[in-house]
Amino acid sequence: MITETSKIHAPQLLHQISGVKVDDALRLLLNEFPGQVTFSSSFSVEDQVITHIILSSNLPVSIFTLDTGRLFAETYSTWNTTNEKYGVKIKAFYPDRNLLETFIDEKGPNAFYESVANRKECCFIRKVEPLKRALSGNAVWVTGLRAEHSPERKNHEIIEWDETNKIIKYNPILNWTSEEVKRFIHEHDVPYNILHDRGFVSIGCAPCTRAIKAGEDFRAGRWWWEDASKKECGLHAAN
Ligand code: ADX
Ligand code: SF4
Repeated sequence: MITETSKIHAPQLLHQISGVKVDDALRLLLNEFPGQVTFSSSFSVEDQVITHIILSSNLPVSIFTLDTGRLFAETYSTWNTTNEKYGVKIKAFYPDRNLLETFIDEKGPNAFYESVANRKECCFIRKVEPLKRALSGNAVWVTGLRAEHSPERKNHEIIEWDETNKIIKYNPILNWTSEEVKRFIHEHDVPYNILHDRGFVSIGCAPCTRAIKAGEDFRAGRWWWEDASKKECGLHAAN
């Protein structure tokens, strides 16, 4: 049951899993909340680490992706290769058809370039609203957030209470470095999005993501035409 008790549990769980390996921490959470632990994957290199840990250990954590309809062809290939390698069918959540049709009819297919409000509306329809449905009925949401990605993301905890979605959020590799992530991927032969080899660090929708140059911030390639302070789509609000 997702109740205010879960909110109170978050700091206690943080203490319990501190220093514990990711697979063991997931076992602990599964023990506490059977059938209510779910992981959101965008098929980023971070998410692929977590997918590998879950699937190679046969942990009963459900895995889903939010298919915005505007992802890169390379992201769909990563999804497909992952399904094949691990013998799974990662579940997709899609935007609400009525919301999306009304938005496109009124504003056109590329309205996100015209204003921050339009961009946020597009992110709401294609990601935030489907996320709510994906999380419904779960007690723990596992993500691939990493603190190195932005100053705002340094405000997250490994286990935290997400007030927006009223759920415990577990960010197991929050404090991993890029080098640690890359090493894990190579050591365990985990499939990854080849865009990461072409200068893409943080990968979202195709029209809203570009490669970054050496020295640029990790998230400089996301919504690059906007002010840096607005670069969140609403999935991850720090408390
Ligand atoms: S975003 O908020 O800017 O889009 P980012 O790409 O950094 O997020 O990813 C951080 C985490 O959010 C991922 O590790 C993943 O858990 C989740 N996430 C982001 N986009 C998606 C998606 N399309 N589908 C599922 N999970 C996602
Ligand atoms: Fe829309 Fe761009 Fe947000 Fe994707 S990242 S949901 S295309 S505004």
